[in-house]
Amino acid sequence: MAKNFYERYEPTLFSRIARDVGKNRNVIEIGCGDCRLCNHLARKNGCTTVGIDINDVDFSRARVESRRLHISHLVECIKVDAEKLSRILNKKFDFCLSLYVLHELRNPIKVLKEVRAILKEKGKVIFVDFPEGSLAEQLWDEKYYSVKEMKTLFKRAGFKKIGHQLLARKQLVYLTALR
Ligand SMILES: C[S@@+](CC[C@H](N)C(=O)[O-])C[C@H]1O[C@@H](n2cnc3c(N)ncnc32)[C@H](O)[C@@H]1O
Repeated sequence: MAKNFYERYEPTLFSRIARDVGKNRNVIEIGCGDCRLCNHLARKNGCTTVGIDINDVDFSRARVESRRLHISHLVECIKVDAEKLSRILNKKFDFCLSLYVLHELRNPIKVLKEVRAILKEKGKVIFVDFPEGSLAEQLWDEKYYSVKEMKTLFKRAGFKKIGHQLLARKQLVYLTALR
């Protein structure tokens, strides 16, 4: 499989996320990078989105794109360490999403507890990441969690009804859970 395998899968993945999130929801994305997903959900579903990342290098690109799409009123980018979410956010969200970030977190349980704190009572998470043994390990020479390890992290952070699906020929884990 070529390196652009994951890029080619992205439209399918984004459509799936948009379907699961639904219309006009309040969404936060952890480790948003260039806010592609926030922009997509704002444009397709009218969602109000906040993308947070510890690194703001891609925010200017994100803002140019949201202006081009006439959705800048729906998309906010904030530079913050996800370990400190609840200190800087004073509103609660219907959904927390994250793409390809879990494996990068220094302290995933601390971040997941912060995520719980900023979700509404019936809030949900969708975390997508590469599983242990996936093509991505060879492409980027990184180590990823097994599905079991991912679920254990969410359980230890207090999440309920933790489920998963393997997507893209088992090269991605689509983990869902309730606050
Ligand atoms: C592999 S990139 C994925 C970016 C984006 N989700 C995408 O799909 O293009 C991982 C992102 O997680 C961010 N990140 C890592 N640790 C973080 C933390 N503690 N708080 C917030 N963002 C973090 C990185 O800065 C980076 O933008």
